[in-house]
Amino acid sequence: MKNQTIIDVELGDRAYPITIGASILENKFDFDQWIKGKDCLIVTNEIVAPLFLDLLLSSIKNKKVETLILPDGESNKTFHVWSQVLDKLVEMKASRDSTVIALGGGVIGDIVGFASASYMRGLSYIQIPTTLLSQVDSSVGGKTGINHSQGKNLIGAFYQPSLVLIDINTLSTLPKRELICGLAEIIKYGAIFDKDFFNWLEENISNLLNKKPEALIHAISISCSIKAKIVSDDEFEMGKRAILNFGHTFAHALENILGYGKLQHGEAVAIGMILAAKLSPIENYDLERLETLIKKAHLPHKVDLIDANEMLEKMLLDKKVKAKQLRLVLLRSLGNAYIEENIRHETILDVINKTLS
Ligand SMILES: NC(=O)c1ccc[n+]([C@@H]2O[C@H](COP(=O)([O-])OP(=O)(O)OC[C@H]3O[C@@H](n4cnc5c(N)ncnc54)[C@H](O)[C@@H]3O)[C@@H](O)[C@H]2O)c1
Ligand SMILES: [Zn+2]
Repeated sequence: MKNQTIIDVELGDRAYPITIGASILENKFDFDQWIKGKDCLIVTNEIVAPLFLDLLLSSIKNKKVETLILPDGESNKTFHVWSQVLDKLVEMKASRDSTVIALGGGVIGDIVGFASASYMRGLSYIQIPTTLLSQVDSSVGGKTGINHSQGKNLIGAFYQPSLVLIDINTLSTLPKRELICGLAEIIKYGAIFDKDFFNWLEENISNLLNKKPEALIHAISISCSIKAKIVSDDEFEMGKRAILNFGHTFAHALENILGYGKLQHGEAVAIGMILAAKLSPIENYDLERLETLIKKAHLPHKVDLIDANEMLEKMLLDKKVKAKQLRLVLLRSLGNAYIEENIRHETILDVINKTLS
């Protein structure tokens, strides 16, 4: 098995590598060149700490290492918890050359990235994502932030890490439902950008569900390289990066209507991708392939009892909507996405009605 894959995120002086492999922590990754100053702070949470914190600590030599263990969950992606990270940095007298390490899923990565962006106007930070979703999505691209009572991810910054380290062994403890949510974003990359990868996923989805190392490394590497490519073309989301939102305008509305937590994000994205594909000018056969792959990944392809008008209203509230004009990411074909601004509301209502209600 190929041991480590490195993908470069090309962003000029903010460029960084993503290192992907198995047993990276167990084999004592060499952090020396990545922790420049004398000290570092590892931030993790109460679920991940007992699983992987000791392993990480044993890899870091000759540095003063502090740890901070935060409470688990999306409900803790708050000002209060973000300020706890800052308090810890102040308490340990961190300086501009200190390094912060985020060990955990997307919630930890987002909070820690934002705290790193804020303390002394920016410390270098390393992402060690431990969920499949954070490995293929949130750890790459530099979006950091926290929630506000008025909106998810409302407060934040674009701030790139200096390294992303993905050890697929961390997925051994990940609950199946979390794994499947990561698969939704992986299927998204194939659908919007890479038909060959989509074909590969059709052949290998059960290997991914069974956490086969070679399959995981391949899927994570391709996903990260697609995201890295899209992000380096459009770091601050002025244009092309928006195609990463395939299925997401529908997904956010569904999450909102059903209540966060009932439907996991990846599950809502799966349904959202089917709705977006139905609005797309693609062959029926390709639509069927997408639906089949989603079902084979054990993701939901529909939910019951959605009021189409309520769903459209929520979609129009999305922060990316301007002047009631929905911009939806649609597919020209599998592997080729584009942004459509001229879709009649009646057409959207019709697709929602035929699929969900
Ligand atoms: N910054 C971005 O570009 C971006 C992109 C997508 C999502 N996000 C954000 O990411 C968050 C979702 O990330 P997530 O799905 O990783 O959620 P999460 O961080 O809440 O992790 C899911 C659960 O798995 C646990 N966990 C983490 N690693 C584990 C492991 N190896 N074994 C067992 N349990 C483990 C966590 O403690 C948590 O309970 C959301 O807040 C979302 O807004 C950000
Ligand atoms: Zn998503």
